[in-house]
Amino acid sequence: MAEWVPIAEVAQHEGEEVTVKGWLYHRTDKGKLKFLMIRDGTGLIQGVMFKKNVPEAAWEAADHLTQESSIIVTGRVRADQRAPGGYELDVSDLEVVHRAELDYPIQPKEHGVGFLLQHRHLWIRSPRQAAILRIRATVKRAICDWLDSHGFVNVDTPILTPAAVEGTTTLFEVDYFGEPAYLTQSGQLYNEATIFALGKVYCFGPTFRAEKSKTRRHLTEFWMVEPEMAYATLEDVMEVTEQMVSHVVRVVLERHRHDLEARLKRNVSRLERVEPPFPRISYDEAVALLHRKGFEDFPWGEDFGAPHETAISEEFEKPVFVYHYPTQCKAFYMEEVPGRPEVCRSVDLLAPEGYGEIVGGGQRAFSLELLERRLEEHNLPREAYEWYLDLRRYGSVPHAGFGLGLERTIAWICGLDHVRETIAFPRMLERMYP
Ligand code: 4AD
Ligand code: MG
Repeated sequence: MAEWVPIAEVAQHEGEEVTVKGWLYHRTDKGKLKFLMIRDGTGLIQGVMFKKNVPEAAWEAADHLTQESSIIVTGRVRADQRAPGGYELDVSDLEVVHRAELDYPIQPKEHGVGFLLQHRHLWIRSPRQAAILRIRATVKRAICDWLDSHGFVNVDTPILTPAAVEGTTTLFEVDYFGEPAYLTQSGQLYNEATIFALGKVYCFGPTFRAEKSKTRRHLTEFWMVEPEMAYATLEDVMEVTEQMVSHVVRVVLERHRHDLEARLKRNVSRLERVEPPFPRISYDEAVALLHRKGFEDFPWGEDFGAPHETAISEEFEKPVFVYHYPTQCKAFYMEEVPGRPEVCRSVDLLAPEGYGEIVGGGQRAFSLELLERRLEEHNLPREAYEWYLDLRRYGSVPHAGFGLGLERTIAWICGLDHVRETIAFPRMLERMYP
């Protein structure tokens, strides 16, 4: 029996007979020759089948073989300049594990996105979608590697929670034995507790927002990594963010250049410039910039929308930090800027090329008094936050952190039009299936 090898590794077996196990992606017949395009999740390879080189049964089985049939193919690895991965298989045997039904819904033609999303369980088999999912796995790993090697302890925060973090309008309520509970919008408040035990922490998991907006960057279930640091300021947040984001981009460029360029048609030159330091501008400066760029009517005090973020980020080659937003457009927990309570110690990181905000963070309110006042101003039920107020009663410290949205970061790195392609099974306003 020939050795079973992943398609991605056939290059190491040139001249040898190997077996690949996968699915038929495409087939063309030319008389006594058949070309089988086989994919196995690690790559694509063409098997060249000559009638005289294979058993009669194998030739017949290949005759009407349908797309997505599961097959085991044995053959000799031959280098071929013209082949997609540089190698082909001279097929010596073929076993059909399961003959796929004739009507595989996804054909090599243009389908509408509604149709593709309805068949997401099959769509993910396409090489482009598989490439994105591979890159997603690398991005997650690179984030954890960076944080783990810089002293951050990974602490899991709850998904069922008693209170809002990012405003009450996007809460998903669930029935918790007769009492209301909410799916977490962010693990931040719990991180703010665990830093008192561990110094620097992060959580990384799914978060939920009942976003009623249908945009290309909103999901109702998305993944967020949230680092939090004791004895830290807004400036520390910016430094950690630019280091971590640059590391992630570097690792993806190292490991996925082919996926990016060949499968996703990503122009990587913009990504290659992503190195610290990132430019930093204040909200005030950003507003002045908008006024100069045709948004004369943008009122100071409002949060930026997608077109504003695009206009701001266009001015910079790299991701840009915007800091000190108006207090009124940020969450209740933000620290005030001393002497200027109308602005807060917040920061967003805007990705280039129109991708907008990928990180939100800041320095947290230090004092019990400020937090109590803010809970009231935001009409939040104090009982649900008593535990959080304890953190300001027993050894409060300046502390800061941020959340990076995984899907938006991947959409930017991969150069995608919409975050829905960055997660295997997206959840959006009008999509819960499959
Ligand atoms: O700016 P946000 O709301 O910040 C927080 O949740 C803070 N509690 C994080 C922290 O400081 N620990 O969200 C952070 C990031 C955004 O910058 C964005 O990348 C992503 O999460 N995000 C979404 N991604 C996809 N779909 C949505 N509906 C998102 N909402 C936020
Ligand atoms: Mg935000």
